Amino acid sequence: MPKWLENAVFYEIYPQSYYDSNGDGIGDLQGIIEKLPYIKELGCNALWINPIYDSPFMDAGYDVRDHKKVAPRYGTLDDVKELLSTAHDMGIKVLFDLVPGHTSDQNEWFLQSKKAEKNDYTDTYIFTKSVWDAPPQYRLMCGICERDGNYLVNYFSSQPALNYGFYDITHPAWQMPSDCDAAKNTVELIKDIMRYWMDLGVDGFRVDMADSLVKNDDEKIATSKIWAGIREMMDKDYPECALVSEWCNPQRSINDGGFHMDFYLDHYGNGYSTLFRYLVDGENKSFFSDSAKGDLSTFLSEYNVNYPATKDNGYICFMTNNHDMPRATFYMSEEMIKLSHTFMMTMPGVPFVYYGDEIGMRYQTDLVSKEGGFSRTGSRTPMQWDSSKNLGFSTADESKLYLPVDKSDDAPTVENNIGRKGSIYENLKTLIALRHEYEDLRNGSDFELVHAEKGDNLFIYKRGEFTVYFNVSKEKKEVKLKNVGEIVFMLGDYEINGETLILDGRNAVIIKG
Ligand code: NOJ
Repeated sequence: MPKWLENAVFYEIYPQSYYDSNGDGIGDLQGIIEKLPYIKELGCNALWINPIYDSPFMDAGYDVRDHKKVAPRYGTLDDVKELLSTAHDMGIKVLFDLVPGHTSDQNEWFLQSKKAEKNDYTDTYIFTKSVWDAPPQYRLMCGICERDGNYLVNYFSSQPALNYGFYDITHPAWQMPSDCDAAKNTVELIKDIMRYWMDLGVDGFRVDMADSLVKNDDEKIATSKIWAGIREMMDKDYPECALVSEWCNPQRSINDGGFHMDFYLDHYGNGYSTLFRYLVDGENKSFFSDSAKGDLSTFLSEYNVNYPATKDNGYICFMTNNHDMPRATFYMSEEMIKLSHTFMMTMPGVPFVYYGDEIGMRYQTDLVSKEGGFSRTGSRTPMQWDSSKNLGFSTADESKLYLPVDKSDDAPTVENNIGRKGSIYENLKTLIALRHEYEDLRNGSDFELVHAEKGDNLFIYKRGEFTVYFNVSKEKKEVKLKNVGEIVFMLGDYEINGETLILDGRNAVIIKG
């Protein structure tokens, strides 16, 4: 296990929207390099950058045309090298995005695979036996290739599924087993790409749809086996590199697949969703919500099983948001966001901050979909730096911007957050600094639940010598103090009366000792 993960706080960058260094209206690698000091100052010491590879951008780069080429709009391979060396000099690790489940339909592998004539890539994708063979349970593109067969897609229609075989074979005429040579060859192709970037200095990958490799593999037995093999390669040749999976099943991903980290994703009604984003018939029933109508039962029923089962092998990752879901401001007030950050930065695992969440950027509604973003587009708008043209994102004409910037008069910016007491930014920066300062608040000590009762809006847990208290209701609440130690963090006002802690509404306090 790479030691640096112990103290890592990640920052996710959607490169097209971060900072445009050359005035063409779209973010780029040089823009990221320029902003590294800003990221460092916030306290983040690792990056996850969404795909920067050559792509027709039907899915914002998750449709890779050439895995070893940098999309010209972001820069060149030299820019990648400069980004890596500058980041490393500053103590910042860099993860790229790996998309192993599919490619673009313009990828050279696929252009070969769809030819009628047999070639080295014929079995790199999944084709049915003939175009008349189209079982309805599969998402197939029918009758559009020279080759007599329909191909399986993994996500959008422009993203044909790579062939890792099938675990349960229901159509033997065209489904191959997951241990056949063609499937093994696909694994080698992906390993080769990983090696290419890690040899250049990339510190690992966020793995897109990591559970999607082998088809008809409900228990993910064959898929996990592939990842376990990849982990062996990492341990042997790249022991300092790390993988984080888009999976949301830590026991499978971490324990079976060997991932170092797994994201706790927002799946409607699951633990993450009921903590932060649970809308039921339009009403917010999440625990961290101004309505104070939620509870912790779903989260705890999942976490109390998954955390002890995986904590010796890897990390469950909480994220403020990502590029696939509405921003946190869509669900929570500024106060509630600060409470949620207090939680994320004091839990075990490795936290991820989505760009712009540190200043409370808003989810933009009514935007026309960009590059396959659809409802996700509103969370992918340009970073808001200051009050200058295009909020400091780009010097290009407004009409040339990748996406419009937030036009509201009170749009949050880095400039109007930094140094403002109580801003989301200052609060998060303080919390990240605490996490770096105290091992107990990272992974040095276990999560111990102290109090979570349905209906009382309180949440108390211990991390080693620290106790974290939350009151998410509007009203003042009294709780029995676990220990009368040093207050190392507070969001609002509190009083200590003997052994009683009186917490103002929507408040969190961290006590040491
Ligand atoms: C998950 C990614 O986060 C998302 O943005 C993408 O569209 C799909 N996987 C397909 O690659």
